[in-house]
Amino acid sequence: MLEGKRIFVTGAAGFIGSNLTDALLEKGAEVIGYDNLWNGRMENLELAQQNRNFTFYKGDVRDYDRLLHLMKDVDIVFHKAAFTSVPQSIIMPQLCNEVNVSGTLNILNSARINDVEKIVYASSSSIYGDTPTLPKHEKMHMDPISPYGVAKQAAESYMTSYHRVYGLNTTSLRYFNVFGQRQKDSPYSGVIAIFIARILEGKNLLIFGDGNQSRDFTYVKDVINGNILAAESKEAAGKVMNIAAGKPISLNELTKIMIELSGKKGIEIQHGPIRTGDILHSYGDITLAKKILGFEAKYDAVSGFKEYLNYYKNIYSSKSKER
Ligand code: UD1
Repeated sequence: MLEGKRIFVTGAAGFIGSNLTDALLEKGAEVIGYDNLWNGRMENLELAQQNRNFTFYKGDVRDYDRLLHLMKDVDIVFHKAAFTSVPQSIIMPQLCNEVNVSGTLNILNSARINDVEKIVYASSSSIYGDTPTLPKHEKMHMDPISPYGVAKQAAESYMTSYHRVYGLNTTSLRYFNVFGQRQKDSPYSGVIAIFIARILEGKNLLIFGDGNQSRDFTYVKDVINGNILAAESKEAAGKVMNIAAGKPISLNELTKIMIELSGKKGIEIQHGPIRTGDILHSYGDITLAKKILGFEAKYDAVSGFKEYLNYYKNIYSSKSKER
């Protein structure tokens, strides 16, 4: 159904955006990638750039005029560009708001003016906050802690508002800790990306807190599948739903498994203070996504990690050879 569609992907050079771009091109869509290259990297688009159905523009979601122009004749928008880090949002709340809230509003308004038929938004489980109810389901009260979570909630509400007020076909997907190939290893990346790099380099790991916090780590391939299903579904119009593996694991348990699977010896786990703004437990109920989209996660944290480890080892060994 996406074949021949003209699709605009924001954050196309990023972790999720580039994996999505490749999947859309494989389905025969025409993809216009847009990224300011803050977190995104052109090397993530090496495969896409070999495809004549792909065009890339370096640009920012805060540039409304540019978006208005580039989204002309676009059929579908996947809005993946974001300020992604919870701790960074505590350092720079205004910038987080400009990118995640005003940027999203720019996308929505450009989509409305250009008569875009569908827009899929990358929302986040962080909007639930630290509520004790588990698993977290869509009817729950939202109680975000960090400026990042608040911004995601606001942007998601704009999505729903544009559906209600202007009839725009929007779907927001609340991701739960996505991980996998092309996730950047930086101090502000997801914990699996940080730990996999350190393990392969034989470095010790630092867990913030006692390690009993848990996350519903979701493998990127499942997230891409959820996005494609959402774009194709008529029933998903105006809806908000969780996209998760639906299986939580504590950081202590996952770290132990990661070290074991890597085969590395002598790696120590150290503990530091709890990170400000951190949520204790996060676990997603995926009943709604299953009902509306037929979504099912094919991976859990461990099976996803095994695949990611193989991928990472290949990249890592070819990079070591280059040095
Ligand atoms: C992550 C995403 C966020 C997304 C949210 C829900 C990243 C950077 N953040 O937030 O965009 O909206 O999931 O899907 O991908 N930790 C350590 N040591 C480290 C790094 C982290 O112990 O070196 C701990 C953290 O304190 C936290 C857990 O690992 O308890 C997960 O942290 P992180 O991977 O940063 O993700 P979230 O904050 O859950």
